[in-house]
Amino acid sequence: DIKGFVFDLDGVITDTAQFHTKAWSKLADQLGVQWSTELQNGLKGLSRMDSLELILKTGNKENDYSQAEKEKLATQKNNLYLQFVQTITPADIFPGIKEFLDELNQHGYLMSIASASKNAPTVLDKLELTDYFEHVVDPKTLKRGKPDPEIFIKAAEIIGLKPEQCIGLEDATAGIAGINAANEVSLGVGSPDVLTEADMVFEDTNKITLANIEANMNK
Ligand code: G6P
Ligand code: MG
Repeated sequence: DIKGFVFDLDGVITDTAQFHTKAWSKLADQLGVQWSTELQNGLKGLSRMDSLELILKTGNKENDYSQAEKEKLATQKNNLYLQFVQTITPADIFPGIKEFLDELNQHGYLMSIASASKNAPTVLDKLELTDYFEHVVDPKTLKRGKPDPEIFIKAAEIIGLKPEQCIGLEDATAGIAGINAANEVSLGVGSPDVLTEADMVFEDTNKITLANIEANMNK
């Protein structure tokens, strides 16, 4: 029986995926790396340093920078991202998500955050959702990033559940892969053409309700 929900944050609860994309594509430009939808989708869910490595690898530049230089580039991206984050208000929560969180609370489901982002607490704060998520996996404690299942297993653990008792929500292919490998039910938020491995996909966040999820579970 499902007893909990494990949420990714960026691209699931609010459109911060858009801000990550803006900041990374600016850096890619600066580094002379060709941007593409494929790269954009591949970056989703990856940790900050894994993202930078993928961008450099895409441009065959993985050996062009020292560790210190890479850290500088990642900090530069993060500073721009944080400027965008400052503009976030509760009105930026995706349609229907707040209602879904209330529905989960009313039915006694447990919930936690499985975001690779070190900025997740700041974003939750700007959205005024901190009270909903007492349990947030600290990405600093992870040995491996998404698509590894570690973060999703931890997100179940911190709410006292087994992975099989959880549904994981993700907008990233790397995230869906992690949820599936963790043995949780995967709920994709986005295009079914991209999130092909998800157990169910919702393009419209307004449609994410317990009734619609149950209908999909019985398929
Ligand atoms: C999330 C986003 C990624 C981002 C990562 C790290 O998983 O989907 O796009 O790179 O978090 O975020 P951070 O805020 O720590 O740089
Ligand atoms: Mg995401």
